[in-house]
Amino acid sequence: MQEAIHEASLRFAKIIEKQLARIETMKAQKDFIDYSSLDTIIIGVCGGDGIGPAITKASRQILEYLLQDEIKKGRVEFRQIDGLTIENRVKAGKAIPDDVLAELKACHVILKGPTTTPRAGDPWPNIESANVAMRKELDLFANVRPVKVPEQGIDWTFFRENTEGGYALGSEGIHFNEDLAIDFTVTTQEGSERIARAAFDYAKKNGKTKVTAVTKANVIKTTDGKFLGICKKVAEEYPDIELDDWYIDIMTAKLVDEKRRTQFQVLVLPNLYGDILTDEAAEFQGGVGTAGSANLGKRYAMFEAIHGSAPRMVAEGRDQYADPCSMIRAAVMLLSHIGYSDLSEKLEKALDICMYQEKKLVITGRDTGATGEQFAEYVMETIAAL
Ligand code: IPM
Ligand code: MG
Repeated sequence: MQEAIHEASLRFAKIIEKQLARIETMKAQKDFIDYSSLDTIIIGVCGGDGIGPAITKASRQILEYLLQDEIKKGRVEFRQIDGLTIENRVKAGKAIPDDVLAELKACHVILKGPTTTPRAGDPWPNIESANVAMRKELDLFANVRPVKVPEQGIDWTFFRENTEGGYALGSEGIHFNEDLAIDFTVTTQEGSERIARAAFDYAKKNGKTKVTAVTKANVIKTTDGKFLGICKKVAEEYPDIELDDWYIDIMTAKLVDEKRRTQFQVLVLPNLYGDILTDEAAEFQGGVGTAGSANLGKRYAMFEAIHGSAPRMVAEGRDQYADPCSMIRAAVMLLSHIGYSDLSEKLEKALDICMYQEKKLVITGRDTGATGEQFAEYVMETIAAL
């Protein structure tokens, strides 16, 4: 037993060393990349698994349509990256095969379809999620997830910390013996500061008056306590923006409180709470199928849906009917991130018309509704008519 404890403590020491090295990398990072200084912005497109390729294709078609002049001028280049499938990942025994990672790193921004995350009992080995691995590998620390329901006064932007918390050591927990399993959660000064600052900067730029920090700092005192403490410190630099402090349990409840929920604007939260709360939030807007997400780092950025790969739809031969709106929302965020805010606004407007106002085509996920491709054409026709 003593020996086993010693071995476990050595593993823990390795974890600490790795995190300390990560902190040094964060400290050495420069500012956000300036897309306007690039001759060519390279957009990598990864279809992923399940319904991923179908819905990603629909979104890419729209992006290529909107960016046609830029593509002709050589200002924007699209690159298809095919190897991010569960089969390839299993074959390589890695969440992201090395060749795929090299292709991703040769791009500036990435449009990524959902990828299958194996879980215990699946036919696949229990390798780490490709999403989570990509967020870590490309240091995409800010997961920005907007949710809007204008007629209900809902306009939220979530800033989910994306590289730390319960996700930092996903597959490095210690299964000590039959009786004892330990996972870890990680909060760093650098990591918390950069996400808090991203949330406040966004609030400032967009005329928002409040940032809400969501933690469970009353119980998870060390790590959540640190996260909240840093949010409070960063808030001092933004005297015009109020910092609100909520616990995740009551926040989950308050999102369904019609009177209270309209008061939230920008929310900043550790990784796991952000994962959970954004699924709940997206439900008010029409479900996770309607929500896009930006994963931002200083050098790279990746845009994706917030939902999974829906293997059941593919098994039932329904992938062409999958709703591409989440990936089209991701495209809206991609466009504004790389500096085409006029095109981004156009696409958002057209998508709102197609999804909520005109609704000439409806997606049902089955042959009772439109295919993703038909919907993409509908969106492009709507853009042309704007
Ligand atoms: C998300 C997803 C992922 C996450 C899964 C697929 C690993 O739920 O993007 O929210 O937990 O982050
Ligand atoms: Mg999630």
